[in-house]
Amino acid sequence: MSEEKHDQQRNSRPDAPLGSTSTCFAAVPRGAEEIAAAELQALGISGTQVGRGGVAFVTDRAGIYRANLWLRTASRVLLQLAVFPCATPAELYGGVHAIDWTELITPEMTLAVDCSLRDSALTHSGFVALKTKDAIVDRIREACGSRPNVDTASPDVRINVHLHRNVCTVSLDSSGDPLDRRGYRLEHNEAPLRETLAAAVVALTGWDGSMPLADPMCGSGTIPIEAALVAGRVAPGLQRAFGFQRWLDFDAEIWERLLKEADSGIRKLPVGLITGYDQDSRALKLASRNAAKAGFEGQLHFFHAALDTFQPEGDTGVVIINPPYGKRLGEEDELKELYCQIGDIMKKRCRGWTGYVLTGNLELAKYIGLKASRRFVLFNGAIECRLLKYELY
Ligand SMILES: C[S@@+](CC[C@H](N)C(=O)[O-])C[C@H]1O[C@@H](n2cnc3c(N)ncnc32)[C@H](O)[C@@H]1O
Repeated sequence: MSEEKHDQQRNSRPDAPLGSTSTCFAAVPRGAEEIAAAELQALGISGTQVGRGGVAFVTDRAGIYRANLWLRTASRVLLQLAVFPCATPAELYGGVHAIDWTELITPEMTLAVDCSLRDSALTHSGFVALKTKDAIVDRIREACGSRPNVDTASPDVRINVHLHRNVCTVSLDSSGDPLDRRGYRLEHNEAPLRETLAAAVVALTGWDGSMPLADPMCGSGTIPIEAALVAGRVAPGLQRAFGFQRWLDFDAEIWERLLKEADSGIRKLPVGLITGYDQDSRALKLASRNAAKAGFEGQLHFFHAALDTFQPEGDTGVVIINPPYGKRLGEEDELKELYCQIGDIMKKRCRGWTGYVLTGNLELAKYIGLKASRRFVLFNGAIECRLLKYELY
């Protein structure tokens, strides 16, 4: 939709379609829920309720904008519209149709429906999404005489339907594209860590930018870049657009104020604070390009080096290693040696530092040969991972 058309639509509606506060849900990679709750509290949003795969909270419009702009570990911020029992297609249609969609979507706008199901009588997500879309467009057609179209790639309004144990929650997706798409990743390398997960790892280490951080297997640089965003006090969403910016009630004044606030708090990183190393020069080129795109040109330091030559600078700091997991047959044997080497290097060359290893392969982790002082469970998509902490006295 053009900006002009959007403005016309917005101006023709004196009242905001949404109430002053709304119940929201920040979807989060499993294992990072407590961190996301702490992030929300740091943003001034209290009364958070931690659940599996996310955090519920109540906030106003500015809070929704702020959460999208600042949350490092959440993948989406959903705004709840209705919750109803739903075990049949008719209950689904009725529950969705009962929402006053004309307050949210005009016939000229486009929409898309995302759906997730768990332990429910309706088991086909494509069917649930289609039925939801039908109920929405029927309701708008009945009121306005014409209906909005579907655009799955870039809709004006993205709707999220979640069915769990025959209870349906219908929400607006205020994020649009998932929040891990910060806008700095230019191309993909082989096994990049999702930005939200890298941010969760940095948060779990407790690193706050006051001491050096090194990543000896940095690949495309996701961990160093997420760390830089923390140390530089950069809002992770500063470079991207959000779903709520296309809503009828979008308040550009609030948004501009939040952007200005965020912009004015950015700090330059001290030289040598964050370093990344990798033996793959292609991945390192990507890391440098991604770091520059994220606004850290010349502030992050990447070195072409194999792990056996790694030696961090300084007496203390945090070293975070995300080695390959070896998912393909035969790879595991080769990787045993690499995991042994990780243990050796941490023990001999990183004395005084705190070491962290993120891996999805617990068998391989045993080859590190050091005793972990803490273990955090995190999910990389469906892969259950461990972040292992080592005190390297
Ligand atoms: C799982 S990937 C890391 C992904 C990274 N966290 C990212 O977000 O792109 C593992 C990385 O370890 C690197 N690597 C493997 N063996 C290495 C070694 N012996 N020395 C240095 N780097 C190594 C690979 O080139 C690869 O980039």
